[in-house]
Amino acid sequence: MDSLELLLQRRSVSRLTTPAPSGEALEAILQAGARAPDHGGLKPWHFSLIHGEGLQRFSDLLRQTSIEDALDDKAIEKATQAPFRAPLIITVVARCQENHKVPLWEQVVSAGCSVMAMQMAAQAQGFNGIWRSGAWTDHPKVRQAFDCQPQDKIVGFLYLGTPQFNAVSPVQPIDLGPYVSEF
Ligand SMILES: Cc1cc2nc3c(=O)[nH]c(=O)nc-3n(C[C@H](O)[C@H](O)[C@H](O)COP(=O)(O)O)c2cc1C
Repeated sequence: MDSLELLLQRRSVSRLTTPAPSGEALEAILQAGARAPDHGGLKPWHFSLIHGEGLQRFSDLLRQTSIEDALDDKAIEKATQAPFRAPLIITVVARCQENHKVPLWEQVVSAGCSVMAMQMAAQAQGFNGIWRSGAWTDHPKVRQAFDCQPQDKIVGFLYLGTPQFNAVSPVQPIDLGPYVSEF
């Protein structure tokens, strides 16, 4: 797949199974993430790999947190199962420097770029996944589990694996009218 086709045909996949990217494929994904555009060379990101027994640990964390928060049974079960939707999750934390000439928002955007770069590197190698966020990204217990300092931000959980199904139709071009103009 050439690089332009990769970008134009990009799509997320939520139904994922094994195998997860590992070895050189995972290394390439992480390298792509670490090559995200980055004002000031701060590398304002941290990638936390959740796989194998880590998925169970993450599930336990979400379950315990849901119980402590007095969520209803349905929500507790949803949280407990959430990590098992993919064989690999990469939690991406924007590790930000405060009072730096590069403002916080730029550092967070850089970390966001790293998520897309990793998803594209996965897709380029026959894997795929989906960028998820949700209320867990801001939950104090989850932030603590990923060593977030007050200025840090969890920009997402990148679920990765092998697509369970092949897409049946190509991605159609978008009507750019509302989104593009001449200055
Ligand atoms: C910052 C961010 C957070 C997202 N969070 C979620 C999420 O929690 N759950 C979800 O289903 N999709 C989420 N999405 C959207 C999916 O990643 C995906 O882009 C969407 O399903 C559209 O599919 P596509 O990427 O194939 O166009 C998020 C996207 C971004 C950029």
